[in-house]
Amino acid sequence: MTNAPIETGHIEQRRILVTAIPGPRSQLLQERKLSAVSAGVGTGLPVYVERAGGGILVDVDGNHLIDLGSGIAVTTVGNAAPRVVSAVQSQVEDFTHTCFMVTPYEKYVEVCERLNALTPGDGEKRSALFNSGAEAVENAIKVARVFTGRTAVVAFEHAYHGRTNLTMALTAKNMPYKQGFGPFASEIYRVPMAYPYRWPTGADHCADEAFEEFVSLVHTQVGEQNAAAVIIEPIQGEGGFIVPPAGYLKRIADWCTQHGILFIADEIQCGFCRTGDWFACDHEGVVPDLITTGKGIAGGLPLAAVTGRAEVMDSVHGGGLGGTYGGNPVACAAALAAIETMQTEDLCGRAREIEALFLPRLRGLAERFDVIGDVRGRGAMLAIELVAGGGDKAPNPTLTAAVNAYCHSQGVVTLTAGTFGNVLRFLPPLSAGDDLLNEGLDIVGQAFVAST
Ligand SMILES: Cc1ncc(COP(=O)(O)O)c(C=O)c1O
Repeated sequence: MTNAPIETGHIEQRRILVTAIPGPRSQLLQERKLSAVSAGVGTGLPVYVERAGGGILVDVDGNHLIDLGSGIAVTTVGNAAPRVVSAVQSQVEDFTHTCFMVTPYEKYVEVCERLNALTPGDGEKRSALFNSGAEAVENAIKVARVFTGRTAVVAFEHAYHGRTNLTMALTAKNMPYKQGFGPFASEIYRVPMAYPYRWPTGADHCADEAFEEFVSLVHTQVGEQNAAAVIIEPIQGEGGFIVPPAGYLKRIADWCTQHGILFIADEIQCGFCRTGDWFACDHEGVVPDLITTGKGIAGGLPLAAVTGRAEVMDSVHGGGLGGTYGGNPVACAAALAAIETMQTEDLCGRAREIEALFLPRLRGLAERFDVIGDVRGRGAMLAIELVAGGGDKAPNPTLTAAVNAYCHSQGVVTLTAGTFGNVLRFLPPLSAGDDLLNEGLDIVGQAFVAST
């Protein structure tokens, strides 16, 4: 496909603002939210959605907003994507639940077969299905510990792996994810991330020095023989869309293999066509021992998975993995439809087209506004990092919040990220057309004019 979005149902693919954002009905709902929902559950943009499709969210006031976030990298095939909707409708009519651990069903097996075939590596693989990304990560660690008979897990600075106890421990950033929620799971060790833009001796030294530091820290502070797994996001998500230098992931993966340590790629945010390949590891020629997937896998229904080498995944005793809802039949039906959509619509190709559309425009903005210190990402997972400017790389979360708020006020749903809260990230649905994306980027440009 080129720039024609996949079928978008009946939603007009145009930004239309009929009220201020948020509109009066959204404001009323927000008041109800504040008195009904825990204050711990935040909302980035309190606009209440009624319908969505293509690249548009329609709110309860009738505003059409341009979606540059995909509900945090979930609606990769589009919101209410036609194939997903009909697969879900038909599955709901057949049956909604049996619990795969009690009386199984074919669609669970089929999703695992698809995952085994699509994920990197040609060897025999197995998968297990779960409800959320955090649950998948937890289970990947469980599998790694059983297989290796070791306990230590190495995670990276700027990492985000979820909000459960073990995944909070793996996650790097304290506020808001960890503050006050400890004590955390033990046997987690943190090493520096190869972050080219902020590497102290410069991007050119980043790959080698980050790898040397990684090796040295694991040796001195963990002991290779104690390490069950190294877990890394091939492109870090919440941490700020940090893309490690070419070859870095492969060096880590090869080093893990030498030491009998499992290399776990957490592709929950960057997987499923998002970066222009099925998985971000594909771009680097890396074959992880275990890969965790979620988000984009099922077009908006809750599903996540762990996939890995058969001998690793089969090392766990029967009954050791599972859960009441993991691999729910409706979510599995949605996943099969989403995967079919990605294949037939060549959504990896579409992600690369989106990169080709975004990157020159973001680089153009960076030339005009020196507060944009870095432009990075791959496919439809792109970001700009905002700094003080004038050669000063001090993070600029205040400006980031202002630019984000301006975009929201103009009906463009942007997201922030980053350990320092100074990254504006773009994760458009791959069903959004070029006109819409260009208009979204026009508004981002206007936001810099208005905020600087
Ligand atoms: C890389 C990564 N891992 C794990 C998770 C946790 O997924 P979930 O929110 O579905 O538990 C996320 C969520 O943002 C993520 O980006």
